[in-house]
Amino acid sequence: MKVTVIGTGYVGLVSGACFAEAGNKVMCLDLDAAKIATLNAGGIPIHEPGLEPMVARNREAGRLLFSSSYDEAVEHGDIIFLAVGTPPDEDGSADLSHILSAARSVGQRIRRSVVVVDKSTVPVGTADKVREAIASELARRGADLRFHVVSNPEFLKEGAAVNDFMRPDRIVIGSDDAEATAVMRQLYKPFNRNHNKLIEMDVRSAELTKYAANAMLATRISFMNELANLAEDLGADIEAVRHGIGSDPRIGPSFLYAGVGYGGSCFPKDVKALLKTAGDRGRRLRILDAVEQANEAQKSVLFDKISAHFGGSAGLRGLRIALWGLSFKPNTDDMREAPSLVLIGQLLAAGCSVQAYDPVARDEARRILQARHPDAFGSGALAIVASAKDALQDVDALALVTEWQEFRSPDFDALAACLRRKVIFDGRNQYEPAEVQAAGLAYHGIGRGTAGAAK
Ligand code: UDX
Repeated sequence: MKVTVIGTGYVGLVSGACFAEAGNKVMCLDLDAAKIATLNAGGIPIHEPGLEPMVARNREAGRLLFSSSYDEAVEHGDIIFLAVGTPPDEDGSADLSHILSAARSVGQRIRRSVVVVDKSTVPVGTADKVREAIASELARRGADLRFHVVSNPEFLKEGAAVNDFMRPDRIVIGSDDAEATAVMRQLYKPFNRNHNKLIEMDVRSAELTKYAANAMLATRISFMNELANLAEDLGADIEAVRHGIGSDPRIGPSFLYAGVGYGGSCFPKDVKALLKTAGDRGRRLRILDAVEQANEAQKSVLFDKISAHFGGSAGLRGLRIALWGLSFKPNTDDMREAPSLVLIGQLLAAGCSVQAYDPVARDEARRILQARHPDAFGSGALAIVASAKDALQDVDALALVTEWQEFRSPDFDALAACLRRKVIFDGRNQYEPAEVQAAGLAYHGIGRGTAGAAK
């Protein structure tokens, strides 16, 4: 089939490459000409495991094309995906200007019947707005063409995006037209081989499904984070509690990991957008309100532990802290809403200096941090170094913020020799407290109370 994908961000590029991998002829459009030049030269603008070779082989096979021309891209596809960004507006609602401008651009150019698919995460009702935008452009041209707008939200996780797309656990198709549904069924056939993963529903339900999924997952995380904080007060270990509840099939084991709060491009933005959607209709989502507040608070938890350990502001001043992990989660260079940014800001404000390392997000982190703390790099208060080991040189303590594989099993004796103040702050509960303590290091995790230590 001939597919056009508008927008080459995470969702657009992964979708385009995977549709091409399944044998379709795909053209990806981005108005950012530099990005298209990079893609045409064989580079990819994001770090995503498995994506680069997939883009390369499909490009070489002529199944994956990149363009910055709307004329070319709209002419190409019988199915046109809108996968442009929907960043949060100042009031938290999703900014639809990109998606509606893409819709207008499609409406100005289509010359045959097409299916237009909303792939971006967009508030309920957006498909109607996309339909209106296309229809009004057609009317302006005096063109009488049939087209359908379908909602097909994407559930891929960064760091596992290619696998999630190729082996989806569900494919949600929201469509109010049987013909359009049939086209989508056909397109997804190669991804829907052994078990039926297609879930067909009306457009609005599909739009809401995406927000419901992310809001539910964010809720689980905030719930566990709050319980973890309580576990500490009670002298209980949240890791044991996680096992204890996760084995209940009604609860399940995933997304129960306490930590330094959720970040990324989706959860924070989608929780805010759903709250706004509800608020616009005069409905208060009390649980989701609390989820967001709990997450904001959780991003400070590691700093609070560091501060408490060293006796507050006087004890913090002049400390040098090693920080492992900058991206919002492992296997991505994405720094959006990363808890590391909050911790670094707090440490610098408290007069600490920070020596940070991340396996892939170093450049992206430097770009963002240089803008936020322009003086800190020059003064040496903030350094981003080239290895986990380099981060440990001449520091007082270690804070683990992102659980990259390479941080999983350090040599604790070597760490004890490096860290002047002999303490680890484990923001992701990666280490066994007893093992760390056996090396002569103090250990602070998230919710890892120890029996007898109840406050
Ligand atoms: C998420 C959804 O999982 C995906 O389906 C949707 O399409 C986009 O949003 P992503 O943002 O890539 O994907 O990351 P995810 O792996 O879901 O993690 C989100 C955040 O939650 C990260 O900051 C992660 O560290 C945090 N998290 C996750 C926890 O703190 N605890 C957990 O148990 C799981």
